[in-house]
Amino acid sequence: MDLRLSGRTAVVTGASKGIGLAIARLLRAEGMRVVGASRTVTPELAALDVAAFPVDLTAPDAGDRLAAYALDQLGGIDLLVNNAGGAENATHTDGFLAIDDAAWQRTLDLNLLSAVRVTRAALPSLVERRGAIVNISSIGARFAHPPVDYGAAKAALTNLGKALAEEFGPRGVRVNTVSPGPTLTQNWRDPEGFAGDLASAAGLDHAEFLAGLPETMGITTGRLAEPEEIAALVAFLASPHAANITGVDYRVDGGVIKTV
Ligand SMILES: NC(=O)c1ccc[n+]([C@@H]2O[C@H](COP(=O)([O-])OP(=O)(O)OC[C@H]3O[C@@H](n4cnc5c(N)ncnc54)[C@H](OP(=O)(O)O)[C@@H]3O)[C@@H](O)[C@H]2O)c1
Repeated sequence: MDLRLSGRTAVVTGASKGIGLAIARLLRAEGMRVVGASRTVTPELAALDVAAFPVDLTAPDAGDRLAAYALDQLGGIDLLVNNAGGAENATHTDGFLAIDDAAWQRTLDLNLLSAVRVTRAALPSLVERRGAIVNISSIGARFAHPPVDYGAAKAALTNLGKALAEEFGPRGVRVNTVSPGPTLTQNWRDPEGFAGDLASAAGLDHAEFLAGLPETMGITTGRLAEPEEIAALVAFLASPHAANITGVDYRVDGGVIKTV
């Protein structure tokens, strides 16, 4: 299927690795002109034919600076993908009481307020071009699972997407959410990272933990998602084929969430 994205423009946050990198790569392959934002420009991002903008999106002025750069590079924004995010602490083994105000603020800045600020700055162009927004939330928005600051921030992001779809739909902007379940990025692959922390908390080594994850989490398909599978849905939602789809939250979780 021709997604009819060629020649259009996109801004992807968190484009240096993982899901954001896969999204930037696919959109570029579909012929979009892309600005990718992240703190670091990894060799993988640099290897793509995209304009990389190094920025810490938790800074209050980052949204304005990114939008200004994107408008300068692209002339206008047809698609904004708010993907930057993540959980600061994988385990919070001491639970809610271990998360102080500063940690809450960092989590909200990265997972919610960065998207708020980039969206606010990009919206005039998105309205002008009758564009689209895709927010990358998480199944953590929908179920009670630590870390609770991350789940709460993602729940707010999902809610924001619905509200923006309502407010800006009549002005031609579609807003959808993609909520991944466990997706095989470096966070899961790296024994020293997020998954390593979870494995230690469970008293398992990393490989053992990862092998058992589908069963532990109730992943019906028996495996984690690949970043490219998230990217494929984002590209479809960005395309004119999805022109009447707005305000929806799509899960790509292999069946983790058991409720309708
Ligand atoms: N992987 C999963 O299992 C999973 C599941 C559900 C939801 N998600 C969501 O999917 C999104 C991508 O996750 P991922 O697994 O691909 O994460 P990742 O591999 O850790 O990548 C995160 C991206 O965000 C960027 N980023 C982080 N902090 C930033 C900051 N302060 N300013 C600018 N950029 C920043 C990172 O780049 P720099 O480090 O270079 O800044 C990187 O490009 C996140 O929103 C995450 O919450 C992931």
